[in-house]
Amino acid sequence: MKALITGIAGQDGPYLAELLLAKGYEVHGLVRQADLAEASRIGDTHPDVAAHPRFRIVVGDLLDKASLIKLLREIGPDEVYNLAGQSNVEGSFSVPELTAEINGIGALRLLEALREASKEARMYQASSSELFGHAVESPQNESTPFRPRSPYGAAKLFAYWMMVNYRQRHGMFAANGLLFNHESPRRSDAFVTRKISKAVANIAAGKQDFVELGNLDARRDWGYAGDHMDAVWRMLQHPEPDDFVIATGELHTVREFVELAFGCAGIDWREHVRVNPDYVRPAEQVPLVGDASKALRELGWRPKVTFKQLVTMMVESDMARIR
Ligand code: GDD
Repeated sequence: MKALITGIAGQDGPYLAELLLAKGYEVHGLVRQADLAEASRIGDTHPDVAAHPRFRIVVGDLLDKASLIKLLREIGPDEVYNLAGQSNVEGSFSVPELTAEINGIGALRLLEALREASKEARMYQASSSELFGHAVESPQNESTPFRPRSPYGAAKLFAYWMMVNYRQRHGMFAANGLLFNHESPRRSDAFVTRKISKAVANIAAGKQDFVELGNLDARRDWGYAGDHMDAVWRMLQHPEPDDFVIATGELHTVREFVELAFGCAGIDWREHVRVNPDYVRPAEQVPLVGDASKALRELGWRPKVTFKQLVTMMVESDMARIR
């Protein structure tokens, strides 16, 4: 089996590549020309992936359909995983057009490229819990209405519906994963979990005094990226293309994450955490928490890593990195 993963240099790509390589796939990881240096750092967290003889980096761009068609013709993938995108929700208000172009039209470009060059390949689209936005109910499942509340969510919503339409009109195997937050030591510190774990390691090492955060009462359904990538692979093995919510079903506050993370280093968080209004976002009226019972029923998927194990893993990884 051959797989093409877009966004290989991001958080999720190497976790998915690791899983596919272990299953015997040949894995092609797509990066933009500008991200080639970033791709060379995959080995920092995934040395086995970076050095694997069945893994290779290829250059292409979701903004350039010709590059996608050329790669699809060369590789002839059985499965294509679209993980590439502008992943910062708050940041999408600063670059709304770019976000729409990459996260929305980019997915459509890939669908069109597949239709032209590799119609039988199965495609996965990284949809998001951000589609639910101002949610009308909690927990959210596959039938919950979408009400995105950012350019990021709106762009992902366009991609979601394009997948559904290409499935219906062109008979393509196009599956959407409505993934709730998923974290790991590879997370960028633009996101709150890694911002905290990195700060704890720095503070423990005497390299930083405090960390500034936004709303400590904000709640999220945080899972482990490795677990969520297992669900993603399962979606493309399902007999029919479909859409699945992938989530832990548990809500935790930023404050709980902070307490556990500082606790791992034996530090009292109250002395090192400040609230900066610049980082505060309007809170959700209805919390974003997923009901993944369809994935359990039809894919046999359930998360393995607990919230506490996730926090510990991230803090220990950052502390080891500093040592
Ligand atoms: N980034 C950040 N920084 N968030 C903070 C901070 C801070 O200092 N303080 C509190 N928060 C709160 C945010 O307001 C939000 O409620 C929560 O922490 C999580 O924010 P992020 O970690 O930035 O992630 P996100 O939920 O906006 O988006 C992530 O998950 C989505 C669902 O899977 C991204 O990975 C998206 O790309 C993804 O679609």
